Parts: sequence; structure tokens; C-alpha cells
Amino acid sequence: MKQIYGKIGLISLACLLVWSGMAFAANSPNLAPRKVEIKRGYTPEAAKCIECHAEKTPGIYEDWKLGKMAGAGISCYDCHMVESNSPMASQCSGLKGSQIFISPMVSSATCARCHPSEVDEFLKSGHANLSRAAVYDKNKAGGVLVALQVKNEGAGFLGVEEGSLVNHASRTGGCQMCHGSVVEVGPDNKPIKSTWPAGVGTLYPDGSVGTCTVCHTRHKFSVAEARKPEACASCHLGPDHPDIEIYLESKHGQIFLTDGEDWEWESAPGTWQPGDYRAPTCAVCHMSGIGELETTHNVNDRLKWDLMHKKSVIRSGARGDGVKGDKLMRKVCINCHGESHIDNTRQTLDSAVALYNTYWAEAVKMKKDLAAKGLLKKDAWKDGYQELMYYLWHHTGRRARQGTAMNGPDYAHWHGFFQVFQVMKDMQDIYNWRIENNKIEELSTVMSSGPL
Ligand code: HEC
Ligand code: HEC
Ligand code: HEC
Ligand code: HEC
Ligand code: HEC
Ligand code: HEC
Ligand code: HEC
Ligand code: HEC
Repeated sequence: MKQIYGKIGLISLACLLVWSGMAFAANSPNLAPRKVEIKRGYTPEAAKCIECHAEKTPGIYEDWKLGKMAGAGISCYDCHMVESNSPMASQCSGLKGSQIFISPMVSSATCARCHPSEVDEFLKSGHANLSRAAVYDKNKAGGVLVALQVKNEGAGFLGVEEGSLVNHASRTGGCQMCHGSVVEVGPDNKPIKSTWPAGVGTLYPDGSVGTCTVCHTRHKFSVAEARKPEACASCHLGPDHPDIEIYLESKHGQIFLTDGEDWEWESAPGTWQPGDYRAPTCAVCHMSGIGELETTHNVNDRLKWDLMHKKSVIRSGARGDGVKGDKLMRKVCINCHGESHIDNTRQTLDSAVALYNTYWAEAVKMKKDLAAKGLLKKDAWKDGYQELMYYLWHHTGRRARQGTAMNGPDYAHWHGFFQVFQVMKDMQDIYNWRIENNKIEELSTVMSSGPL
């Protein structure tokens, strides 16, 4: 069948879509090669990109066609064209010999031409510079983070050359795809050294920051997609920040799984309200306009606590304003819950933070004591006490705090506080043994996979 269609496609004139500038011809027979001819609505330069790419990269073209921006006449040319002197200026095979320069890299600066407030808010959030710094800043956490990627995961300690592509494979396939990268370009201004594509806080060669497509993916750029929890799940998951797992086990997530298919996802920006959905998604609580609240692209706006670092404190400075954040988050809940419910669930979060902080303070006290007596190994990854301390904070302790914050009881308890207390008991044993024997045990007592 496929072959017959192919032949018909070649022999006949195939499908000539008449472009209306707003609507796309439906029911076009699925024949290849595709021919698209643009009659109006675009400049001749813009029309050329579309016509050729409809044939050469049909996946991109079809996706773009599905988005609202295509309907509004925003095309490849509007987002990919750059000035000839841009550090990102290059040409694709279809443009060689012309005066038009383009780049495959498109940062938030391009979107800012038409969506300035979304980009402003985004740039103030943890999704922008803070996100990239977590992976790339050589000084952050005293250099421990870069050492983790290069010396340890990149097998620097086994002799792999530091800075080589092999050495960076763990960063480029992992950290960087979520957090973002610092893009480097070669002599032809195309990205090199696997520094692109990358995650949310990417720094582009022209100094601009941010990849907007992590939530509304190219080239559909759909608001409906970004409103669904799946949009966040590519990054907010796993043993150290299982937000999608927590959400799906919460009552909210269960209602989403039961009813979500029938919800109204396409409401105009700012008008998406309870009734369109029965329970909140990640976007409802952290970003979307609801009740009195306006939509925000600053995901830090509605947060009180810092639940990711070693000790939880009320947010301030670059991490947001926790006092204000508390008030805003309550304004989300009030659309569907009463005061008593909100006061109680918020109190439970405050208590969980206090409980976790108590464990952490004890761990710090014991560590100081061991350090003073010379009972810590220099390499923390070979030292059972320090390894467990990492898991106490980074895995079990985050799960306990985030599980409580987002109403996932199994994460708050079994993957959370239950394991927090287990890890603490083991840390106490190691501490007592070292103090009694005045030496460090030879082999690490911790399984390398840690308490998952
Ligand atoms: C609204 C802006 C916008 C429009 C319109 C747009 N793009 Fe893109 N495009 C992007 C963004 C954003 C990226 C991701 C860039 C990044 O991560 O740095 C991208 C990436 C790409 C890439 C590189 C990624 C890959 O998978 O190879 C190609 C090729 C591309 N677009 C082609 C096109 C074509 C062809 C069209 C027109 C049919 C088009 N784009 C329309 C914004 C746009
Ligand atoms: C005559 C056909 C043709 C025309 C016209 C054309 N392209 Fe391309 N383009 C291609 C092909 C084929 C590729 C994939 C191979 C390559 O990268 O050269 C491509 C690749 C690209 C890429 C990815 C480049 C990379 O480094 O990965 C972008 C972005 C792009 N085109 C945008 C555009 C824009 C914007 C226009 C209009 C200003 C345009 N193209 C016009 C055929 C064309
Ligand atoms: C040249 C102006 C222009 C540029 C550049 C532009 N946009 Fe848009 N965008 C629009 C317009 C106009 C609409 C409204 C379309 C409509 O609703 O008919 C829109 C709508 C949107 C929507 C809402 C779509 C929906 O489903 O309701 C998103 C999301 C979006 N743009 C993201 C982006 C991103 C991300 C970039 C940068 C990669 C970008 N835009 C660049 C003009 C632009
Ligand atoms: C491409 C990966 C990615 C996607 C997709 C993503 N995030 Fe994030 N998010 C991150 C990273 C990385 C951080 C940590 C930033 C840092 O280092 O401070 C983060 C941080 C956050 C924070 C804490 C802010 C802070 O830094 O203090 C919130 C809240 C958040 N994201 C919510 C969301 C929501 C809601 C969605 C979906 C609508 C989402 N994220 C989608 C990667 C992502
Ligand atoms: C699957 C996506 C993903 C990968 C891979 C990933 N992270 Fe993260 N990271 C996140 C998210 C999401 C957060 C926000 C966590 C939270 O709110 O609890 C985060 C938080 C952080 C933080 C705390 C925030 C800050 O700015 O201080 C640091 C540091 C960090 N990551 C570093 C790294 C490093 C280094 C790697 C690789 C060795 C890495 N991450 C791999 C998604 C990821
Ligand atoms: C963390 C996920 C996430 C990222 C990153 C993100 N968006 Fe959005 N965006 C959303 C969500 C969710 C909505 C829908 C809000 C609602 O319910 O109305 C949205 C809506 C929009 C809209 C529709 C108008 C509005 O403000 O509601 C535009 C335009 C838009 N985004 C542009 C951008 C641009 C430009 C960037 C890059 C700076 C970006 N987005 C990055 C999640 C994201
Ligand atoms: C019912 C509302 C609600 C839903 C739904 C929700 N969250 Fe949250 N989220 C919260 C609250 C409340 C907090 C803690 C805020 C505070 O400190 O006051 C939080 C905290 C976070 C944090 C931790 C930030 C830090 O300090 O480390 C991240 C990341 C996050 N949420 C991402 C997500 C993602 C991703 C989803 C969907 C998979 C999601 N949230 C669903 C309400 C929600
Ligand atoms: C769009 C409406 C909506 C929003 C917004 C919302 N919830 Fe809910 N929530 C629900 C529904 C519906 C249920 C299920 C009630 C049931 O089990 O009968 C629920 C259940 C819960 C539960 C499970 C316990 C129970 O039976 O009530 C908790 C805890 C909870 N929500 C906390 C919150 C918090 C905290 C916020 C704000 C950060 C919030 N919710 C925002 C609709 C919402």
C-alpha cells in the first residue's frame, strides 16, 4: 500500500495546499513528497522557509502548523532569522548564497520581542540563571558540584581527561538537559562540544538566557500542553525531587488521572479556572492565573520554604519572598478549600520542615565533632558518614519535605521520614563507632546505590 501511495504521490501533482494565512487545508491526502504553496500572509522570504521545510523537515512543519502562532502568521523566519553579525549567524543548505542568516538556537530573547512580560518573569525565576549555575558555576558549593560531574561521574579519578567529551558525557546527557548549558560555537557559528540542545537555564552565545520550549515544546508552543503535569515531569522526578510521583499519588493527581481527559485545557490565557478542571495540576498551583491570582512565569513567586537545600529556610533574595509566597499559595487553595483545611495543611508543611531541620542539625553537630577529632575522610564519597549525610538531605529529606508540601502521603512517610530516621540511626552508629575506636572504619559501610 505504502509503495502505491508513494507512486501516486510522485506521478500526480499531489497535494497543493492553498494557504489562507489563518486556516490550514484539512483532509489533505497523506502523500509524499509534500508540496505546500503559500499564496498570501507571508513575505516571500518567510514563505520560502515554509515551503522547503514542509518537504525537508515535515515533522517540524506539521507541528508548527498545529500551533496558534502559525495561525497568527508567526513563521520560521520570525524566530530563526538573525542579523549577519550575530555570534549565532549561520545558514542552512537551503539558504546558501543568500543574504539571509539563521540559527537553530532560539532563546527567550527572541520570544521577548512579542511576549516581554512572560520572559521578564521567567528570568527572575530559579528556572533561569540559578538553574544553569547549579551545574556550570565553578565556585558554587565550593566547587563540589563541578567536581561531582568531572572528577567523579566523568571518571576523572580513573584517568579520563578532564574537559574531554567523554569526561563530560554524564553532564551533557544528564545535568545539562534539565538545568541548561553554556553554549559554545565553532568557526561556522554552529553549536559544538555537545553544549546544545540543553535545558531550561541555557546561556546562549549572544548572552541571552533561557529555553522556553521545556514546557510548551516546539513547534506547537501549546498552552494546553504546559498546563498538564507531564510538561514538568521530564525534570521534576526521580529519587531526589519526585514531584510528578508525589503529584500522581496525591488526591489531586488521582482526580487528574481519573477525569483529566475530559477537562477543558484550551481556555484562553488567564481564563483557565476551576470548572475547566476539578483538581489542580502543577501549573495551577505554581503558575496559572486562578481566582485573584494572575498567571506568572516566575515559579518562585508562590513558595514559602526552600525545600531543596540542606537546611530549609523561608525564601529570600534571589530565591523569592517566602512571606509573600505563603500568602499567594493560600490564594490558590482558597478556590477549592476552606480556611480550616488550608491552615491545617500549611501547618503540616511547617511542622515537617521543622522535623527535617531537627534531623539535619543533629547530622551537622555530629559531623563537626568528627571533623574536630580528625575522624572524617577527605574524599566524602568514600566516607560512609558523609555519604549517608548526603542521602539524608538530598534524597530522603527532600522527599519527606516535598511529599508533605504537595500532599503525597506515601512520599511524606515511607520514602520520606521513615527513611530519614533509618539513615540517621546508621549515621549515629558510625559516629559512635568512630568516637569509641578513635579511627575511621576501612571500607565504606554504605551501599553505593544508597537508600532509594
Ligand atoms: C515561535 C518561534 C519559532 C517558530 C515560529 C519556529 N521555530 Fe524552530 N525553534 C524555535 C525554538 C525556541 C527552538 C529551540 C531552540 C533551542 O533550544 O535553542 C527551535 C528549534 C528549531 C530547530 C533545531 C532543533 C532541531 O530539532 O533540529 C530547527 C531545525 C527549527 N527550529 C526549524 C524551524 C522551522 C523549519 C520552522 C518553520 C516551519 C520553525 N522552526 C519555526 C522557535 C521557533
Ligand atoms: C530550499 C530548501 C530550504 C529553504 C528555502 C530553507 N531551508 Fe532551512 N534547511 C533546509 C534543509 C534541507 C535543512 C537540513 C540540513 C541543513 O541543516 O542544512 C535545513 C536546516 C535548517 C535549520 C537547522 C540548522 C542547523 O544548524 O541544524 C534551521 C534553523 C532552518 N533550516 C531554518 C530555515 C529558515 C528560517 C529558512 C527561511 C529563512 C530556511 N530554513 C529556508 C532546507 C531549506
Ligand atoms: C513576532 C511575534 C512573536 C514571537 C517572536 C513569538 N510569539 Fe508567541 N505568540 C505570538 C502571537 C501573536 C500569539 C497569539 C496567537 C493566537 O492566540 O492567535 C502568540 C502565542 C503564543 C503562545 C500561546 C499559544 C496557545 O496555545 O495559546 C505561546 C505559548 C507562545 N506564543 C510562546 C512563544 C515562545 C516560546 C516564543 C519564542 C520561542 C514566541 N512565542 C515568540 C507572537 C509571537
Ligand atoms: C527542563 C527541565 C525542567 C522543566 C520541564 C521544569 N522544570 Fe522546574 N526546575 C528545573 C530545575 C533544573 C530547577 C532547579 C533550579 C535551581 O537550580 O534553582 C527547577 C526549579 C523549579 C522550582 C523551584 C524554584 C527554585 O529554583 O527555587 C519550581 C517551583 C519549579 N521548578 C516548578 C516547575 C513546574 C511547575 C514545571 C512545569 C510547569 C517545571 N518546573 C518544569 C527544571 C525544570
Ligand atoms: C532530571 C533532571 C535533572 C538532572 C539530570 C539533574 N538535575 Fe539538578 N535539579 C533538578 C530539579 C528539578 C531541581 C529542583 C529540585 C527541588 O526543587 O527540589 C534540581 C536541583 C538542583 C540543585 C539545587 C538547586 C540550586 O540551584 O542550588 C543543584 C545544585 C543541582 N540540581 C545540581 C545538579 C547537578 C550538578 C546535576 C548533575 C550531576 C543535576 N543537578 C542533575 C533537575 C535535574
Ligand atoms: C515551567 C514551564 C514553563 C516555561 C519554562 C515557560 N512557560 Fe509559558 N506557560 C506555561 C504555562 C503553564 C502557561 C499557561 C498559563 C495559564 O494557565 O494560563 C504558559 C503560558 C504562556 C503564554 C500564554 C500567555 C500567558 O502568559 O498565559 C505565553 C505567551 C508563554 N507562556 C510564553 C512563554 C515564554 C516566552 C517562555 C520563555 C521565557 C515560557 N513561556 C516558558 C509554562 C511555561
Ligand atoms: C496543590 C498545589 C500543588 C500542586 C498540584 C503541585 N505543587 Fe509543587 N508545591 C506546592 C506547595 C504548597 C509547595 C511548597 C511551597 C511552600 O514552601 O510554601 C510546593 C513545592 C514545590 C517544589 C519545591 C521547591 C523547593 O523549595 O525545592 C517544586 C520543585 C514543585 N513544587 C514542583 C511541582 C511540580 C513539578 C508539580 C507537578 C508534578 C507540582 N509542584 C504540583 C503546591 C503544589
Ligand atoms: C481546583 C481545585 C483545587 C485546588 C486549587 C486545590 N485543591 Fe486540594 N483538593 C481538591 C479536590 C477536589 C480534592 C479531593 C477532595 C476529596 O477527596 O473528596 C482535594 C484534596 C486535597 C487534599 C486531600 C485531603 C482531603 O481529603 O481534603 C489535600 C491535603 C489538599 N487538597 C490540599 C490542597 C492545598 C494545600 C491546596 C493549595 C496549595 C489545594 N489543595 C488546592 C481540589 C483543589
